[in-house]
Amino acid sequence: MKAIELDFPFEEIDPIAEIESYRKEINRPIYHIHKWWAKRLGSVFRSIASGALTEGEWKGFYEHQNHSGKVVLDPFMGSGTTLGEAAKLGASVIGCDVNPVSTFLVTQALTNINLNTLETEYKSIERDVKDEIRSYYTTMVPGASKPTPALYYFWVKVVTTPDGEEIPLFSSYVFSKNAYPSKKPDSQIWCPSCESVFVGKYNATELECPCCLHSFNPQSGQAKGAKVINSHGTEYKIKDLVSDSNKAPEHKLYAIMALNENGDKVYIKPTQYDYDLLGEAKKRLVSIEGELPLPTMEVRPGYNTNQARGYNYNEWRDFFNSRQLLCLGLLLQRILKIEDKVIRDHFVCLFSGTLEFNNLFCSFKGEGTGAVRHMFSNHILKPERTPLENSVWGTPGKSSGTFSTLFKSRLIKAKTYLDEPFEIKVEYNGTKRISKKIVCSDPLKVNVTQSWDDFNEASQGALILNGDSSSLPVPDASVDAVVTDPPYFDFVHYSELSDFFYAWLSNALGAEYSYLSRKDSSHENEVQDRDNESFTKKIGSIFSECHRVLKEDGLLCFSYHHSTIDGWMAIFNAVTEAGFDIVAAHPVKAEMSVASPKSAAKEPINLDAILVCKKEQIAPGISNPDQEFLRRYDFYLTRFEAIQRKLSAGDKFVIACSQAISVASTKRMDRETASSFMRKALEMCSNNALHSDNFSAALQNSR
Ligand SMILES: C[S@@+](CC[C@H](N)C(=O)[O-])C[C@H]1O[C@@H](n2cnc3c(N)ncnc32)[C@H](O)[C@@H]1O
Ligand SMILES: [Zn+2]
Repeated sequence: MKAIELDFPFEEIDPIAEIESYRKEINRPIYHIHKWWAKRLGSVFRSIASGALTEGEWKGFYEHQNHSGKVVLDPFMGSGTTLGEAAKLGASVIGCDVNPVSTFLVTQALTNINLNTLETEYKSIERDVKDEIRSYYTTMVPGASKPTPALYYFWVKVVTTPDGEEIPLFSSYVFSKNAYPSKKPDSQIWCPSCESVFVGKYNATELECPCCLHSFNPQSGQAKGAKVINSHGTEYKIKDLVSDSNKAPEHKLYAIMALNENGDKVYIKPTQYDYDLLGEAKKRLVSIEGELPLPTMEVRPGYNTNQARGYNYNEWRDFFNSRQLLCLGLLLQRILKIEDKVIRDHFVCLFSGTLEFNNLFCSFKGEGTGAVRHMFSNHILKPERTPLENSVWGTPGKSSGTFSTLFKSRLIKAKTYLDEPFEIKVEYNGTKRISKKIVCSDPLKVNVTQSWDDFNEASQGALILNGDSSSLPVPDASVDAVVTDPPYFDFVHYSELSDFFYAWLSNALGAEYSYLSRKDSSHENEVQDRDNESFTKKIGSIFSECHRVLKEDGLLCFSYHHSTIDGWMAIFNAVTEAGFDIVAAHPVKAEMSVASPKSAAKEPINLDAILVCKKEQIAPGISNPDQEFLRRYDFYLTRFEAIQRKLSAGDKFVIACSQAISVASTKRMDRETASSFMRKALEMCSNNALHSDNFSAALQNSR
């Protein structure tokens, strides 16, 4: 028996996962080479893979392991967390994702490349395009003798009322404050009368502009929620004004953060110099546009995309202003000239990641934190009323989210991790907590390939595929463990969001890679369903495929959580109908970000269940399912109590539902019997005097 069939040492793993979660991109840079949504914690997946491959007792988290010759598959690979972690344990890995952006980024993440080669190529790109790109990001700071670098441009959307009044969509005129404003109250304020920029307290409600002496309340702009008020007090719905105009909204440049001649950051009011520079960028774009690899894809209708389309963002290029298009285009054009395809693709990947911080859906986070709030901070495509324009090349040490800074913080870190794949260990020095890096895996040197035959011949292969995982180009009974994190109904609309990157990638590399030559990044079999039946059907067909490729004693282990009974029944039906028994369900720390926002607010779910499934083999051995359910439920609550972990009702619901489907599957219950068993189980928990958990809302919703 494998270790994970018996137990999961969450008491040991959760604190490690917690530390990782604070700074995921630093602690697991390999999976942060590019944006992906709902990334999982590497330490949790290291543990799952280890437990699924190890015979008998659990190995310590930091123990060096060598599972060479074993094959681990992730049919929903996303950013490649399972692949990297299983490879660190010595296994060969197979990953497949229906989304082309995932396939592209995982290929880069796992490919070894010499750091010097990357540095040399970077210098060459720098030599060719840096100066030109940077020349569009300069400004004249008052009193300066020459132009200096502009770090960020502050823009505001402007709507026009039916009688022609142009209104900037400010809800507040305090446009830059510190992340801890009570400690550092000085903020930047924009004067709506003379449009100058000055310093005032972040919470002031009455201020006089030092420039024009206009008195106003900086907390109160003309935009109020979904409405805007004109100078005569008439209210308009912003959405109506925006959609009536038939084109993407206009923007007004209202402030700039620049470096002065001493290299200090200053806020200034834009001048003619800045408008002229923009004009030049626009002119240059028009003149060379035909040569630049700019996106031509339309924004297709969809759940997330409709929000942007409502603002007339109908093409992906509309997400950028002329200067951004010009500079991004020049940069990508240069990158595509790199002859060595491996190096080129790494830079295309870095470039694509840079897009996230260089478009009009970004905003300003404030002083004292990474300045740019990237566009996907909420898994949505929300048009930003006050966008922040970053400088594409950037000023190392001073800016964030730019090509030059991401080269170091993303690409170089990710590649370094392959040579030194470390874990984080927390130690105490007296009461002081220090986290240390510990290397307990061999350097990652997998042979990345796209064909089974090459994979089969390699000593440690990584077969990276694109396509629907319900049909994999992999022989029967060839996989030792499936370790995955399936989509949870339609929590994240992956392909709608990934189209933002795909629009550039497909233009750049579509001629070379068939998976980047599709019309867009969607696929009819993408698991992305709110509807229970179709979700069950699609995910079930992938579990069936896992059943086919798994060896007889292989395990399917995946993380899951849901806040409804139907969500749990859907997964029960899919797994059991694919021919698996759920032999164990272990709670483990989850990533909050995937919980549906509504339920997360009321009853946060901080736990995932790891469902451990095995091909149906032995006859079920549980005589009294009710009793068995309660025993397991209490067992976990007691273990959490012992480590003084407070569980939310949402967490207990996850424990209860996962234990219920596990017991139901071991008893081989059919859909209906399992569903009534689940309700009964939740009622038993609700009546449980010891814990007095109240699941009545969930029970009611499901009737
Ligand atoms: C929850 S994410 C995986 C996240 C991943 N564990 C990580 O840490 O990045 C689920 C993935 O399933 C993919 N997917 C959805 N339907 C699929 C299908 N039919 N075949 C293969 N992959 C699919 C999505 O594109 C998405 O990348
Ligand atoms: Zn003023």
